[in-house]
Amino acid sequence: MTKNRVGLIGFPVEHSLSPVMHNAAFAALGMSDWLYDAMSIPPDILRYGLQEPRNHGYIGLNVTVPHKEAVMELVRPDAIARAIGAVNTVDFRNNSGANTDADGIVEDLRANGVPIADQQVLILGAGGAARAVVYGLARAGANLAIVNRTKSRAERLVSELRSAAGIDGIALMTLEEAADWGMSLIINCTSVGLHPHVNQSPWTHGLPFPQGVTVYDTVYRPANTALMRQCVARGGRAIGGLGMLARQGALSFKIWTGVAPPVDVMLRAAQAALENTARSRDENQIEVKD
Ligand code: ATR
Repeated sequence: MTKNRVGLIGFPVEHSLSPVMHNAAFAALGMSDWLYDAMSIPPDILRYGLQEPRNHGYIGLNVTVPHKEAVMELVRPDAIARAIGAVNTVDFRNNSGANTDADGIVEDLRANGVPIADQQVLILGAGGAARAVVYGLARAGANLAIVNRTKSRAERLVSELRSAAGIDGIALMTLEEAADWGMSLIINCTSVGLHPHVNQSPWTHGLPFPQGVTVYDTVYRPANTALMRQCVARGGRAIGGLGMLARQGALSFKIWTGVAPPVDVMLRAAQAALENTARSRDENQIEVKD
C-alpha cells in the first residue's frame, strides 16, 4: 500500500519520541497507509534533507534541533513562525512552515488547569525554546519576565519579539530579583537538568525557592527534574514537558492529515518509550558496573 509519508529531520534524531508518538496516533485512528520516520540530517546538507523527502512524496516534516532556524530560508514561514524565528513543521503541499511549539505549551498548560491570563510568569532561558514559549504565553495574556545566564541574548529576544510581533512589556531580571517578583508560574526553557545532568537546576543553589508556585519544565528527560523536585519541596506543583511535546506533535499531525489526533494516545506512547529507554539505560549501567 502506498504510504503517506511524514517524518522528522534533525541532527541527531535517534532518541526522538516523535516517530513512536505519531505512529501510535496513526494506529489508533486506523490510518494504516500513513508512516512517520526520523532522518538524521547534518546541517551542511539541510537543503537536500528537505528536497529529497519532498521528491519522494513526503507530505511534510517536523524539524528539530539544529535546523529550526535554518529551515526558515527554505520554506514560506507563516506569521507565527516568523515572529518566533523558527519552523518546526513543514507542509510540502504549499511549502509552508509553521511553529506549533507556542500553541503546544499554551494548550498543555490549559489542559493541566494552569491559569495564564494576567498571571506573572517567569521564563528561565532565552534560546529557541524560550522564544516559542514567550510568544505563546504573551499572546495568551501573561505578564512575563525572563532570566537568562547571558543577558544580551535575553535582550535580543525581547527586542526581536517586539519588532516582529508587537509584544511589549517583558521584564528582564536576575534570578535574585525574580525570587521576590511574586510569580505564580515558572517555565524552564533552559537545557539545565537535562539527562545526564539530572541533579542540575536552573534555580541555583543557595537562593530559596519560592513557596507554592507552579513549575513547568520543558525538559522531559528525566521525567522529574531537579527543578521540579525543588518546587515540590516548597509546596508547589510541578509539571514535566512531555505534554508540550505531545501537543506540538498533535498540531503538526493536524496540519498534515486534517485530522485532530488523540493527544492522550500520543502522550502515553511517548511516556512508554521514555520509560523503556530509561530502563534499558539503567540495565546497561548495571552491566557496566558488573
Ligand atoms: P533550545 O533551542 O533548546 O532553547 P538553545 O537555543 O541552545 O536551546 O538555548 C539553551 C538555553 O539554555 C539558553 O537560554 C542557555 O543560556 P545562554 O543563553 O546563557 O547560553 C541556557 N543554558 C544552557 N546551559 C546553561 C547553564 N549551564 N546554565 C544556565 N543556562 C544555561
